[in-house]
Amino acid sequence: MQVPTLRLARLPDAYPIALMSRELIESGLSGWSWDPERVTRSIRARDTSVLVAEIQHPIVGFAIMNFGDTSAHLSLLAVGLSHHRCGIGKRMMGWLEESALTAGIASINLELRANNHAARDFYRALGFTETAYIPGYYRGVETALKMSRDIRRHARDRIS
Ligand SMILES: CC(C)(COP(=O)(O)OP(=O)(O)OC[C@H]1O[C@@H](n2cnc3c(N)ncnc32)[C@H](O)[C@@H]1OP(=O)(O)O)[C@@H](O)C(=O)NCCC(=O)NCCS
Repeated sequence: MQVPTLRLARLPDAYPIALMSRELIESGLSGWSWDPERVTRSIRARDTSVLVAEIQHPIVGFAIMNFGDTSAHLSLLAVGLSHHRCGIGKRMMGWLEESALTAGIASINLELRANNHAARDFYRALGFTETAYIPGYYRGVETALKMSRDIRRHARDRIS
């Protein structure tokens, strides 16, 4: 596999990103929460990084992370089915984690559908821990699992 390039998203990327969200993340839920308009707002937002991984031109993965003062929130992350288990998700998370550390962020938090066992395993493999369940978080019907990672502690471990 060719190594994907990581870059910040541009406005024309909003539609393909939103499609990937609908197909890979929101599948089976009613409506389309991360539609092109919402993704466009995220690309424009100063406190949000929208990252894409691409091989030549097609986007093969993306992530959306919002930066607060001391913590960051990963809103979405997905890799196209044909590129799963190639290390792309891990590379995008590494990129975001480095940005967060540079911005003085201490932890990254996220929610995912509690029945998404592949993603749970992925985040666990990256050092995230499970912190809480939130029943009805998705469209009032599906439970979310909250996960978190203390990135400063891991950075300190890496240095020492
Ligand atoms: C979760 C997701 C982003 C992982 O991306 P990926 O690029 O396939 O993951 P990587 O190749 O970087 O995996 C890194 C490690 O995570 C773990 N992992 C990843 N996918 C896994 C799976 N399906 N089952 C078990 N462990 C998994 C493994 O330890 C893997 O290392 P290895 O391949 O050397 O064993 C991808 O499966 C995806 O897009 N899923 C659909 C969307 C989604 O669920 N997003 C998350 C919620 S927003």
